[in-house]
Order: sequence, then C-alpha cells, then structure tokens
Amino acid sequence: KEGLPTFSLADVATHVSAKAGGIWVLYKHGVYDVSKFISAHPGGTKLLLAAGKSIEPFWQIYAAHNHADVHKILETLRIGNL
Ligand code: HEM
Repeated sequence: KEGLPTFSLADVATHVSAKAGGIWVLYKHGVYDVSKFISAHPGGTKLLLAAGKSIEPFWQIYAAHNHADVHKILETLRIGNL
C-alpha cells in the first residue's frame, strides 16, 4: 500500500505487547496493528500466538479466515508495509 511506512521483520518482532508499543502481525507484505481488534476477534486471544510474526501459518489451519470479509477487516488494521 502506498503512503504507509515501511517496517523490517525485526521491527514487527518487537511489537508483542498492547502496553508497550502495540501488537503487530504480518500478512504477506502488510504490517497490521491488532491491539484493539483482539477484543473483537471471534477467535479471541488465539490471535496472540501470531504476535510479532506472520498470521499465514495460522490461517492455513483456521480456514474460516479464507473469506473476503475477513481480508477486509484485516486491511482496516494496516499500518505499513514490510
Ligand atoms: C475466527 C478475523 C487472526 C484464530 C475469526 C473470524 C474472523 C477472524 C472475522 C470469524 C470467521 C467466521 O466465523 O466466519 C481474524 C483477523 C486476524 C485473525 C482479522 C488477524 C488480524 C487469527 C489468528 C488465529 C486465529 C492468528 C490463530 C492463531 C481464529 C479462530 C477462530 C477465528 C480459532 C474461530 C473460527 C474457527 O474455529 O476457525 N477470525 N483472525 N485468528 N480466528 Fe481469527
């Protein structure tokens, strides 16, 4: 996405706490801040398993995410690019 900041894998990996800088995850080349979304997530705190890393391996297991609606939600959380 144009106009958003670029982060490194190492940047993303340090964002694992809502209290200290937020909880970030990756999906492909997108960086997402899920700090506020977690309380609304239908899968609850399972999302924390992906804190600081890619959600892709988890989404392969939980196929409920393989829907356009879910990807729309994800894009509303986007803060940057890898
Ligand atoms: C369910 C969104 C990350 C585990 C859902 C649903 C949505 C959603 C919309 C409801 C799907 C439906 O019932 O049709 C998201 C978003 C994520 C995310 C936007 C990332 C920002 C994750 C991760 C995990 C996970 C990383 C696991 C580590 C689950 C589980 C459910 C669920 C267990 C319950 C549905 C099922 O049994 O498959 N999520 N999710 N989610 N999510 Fe997530």
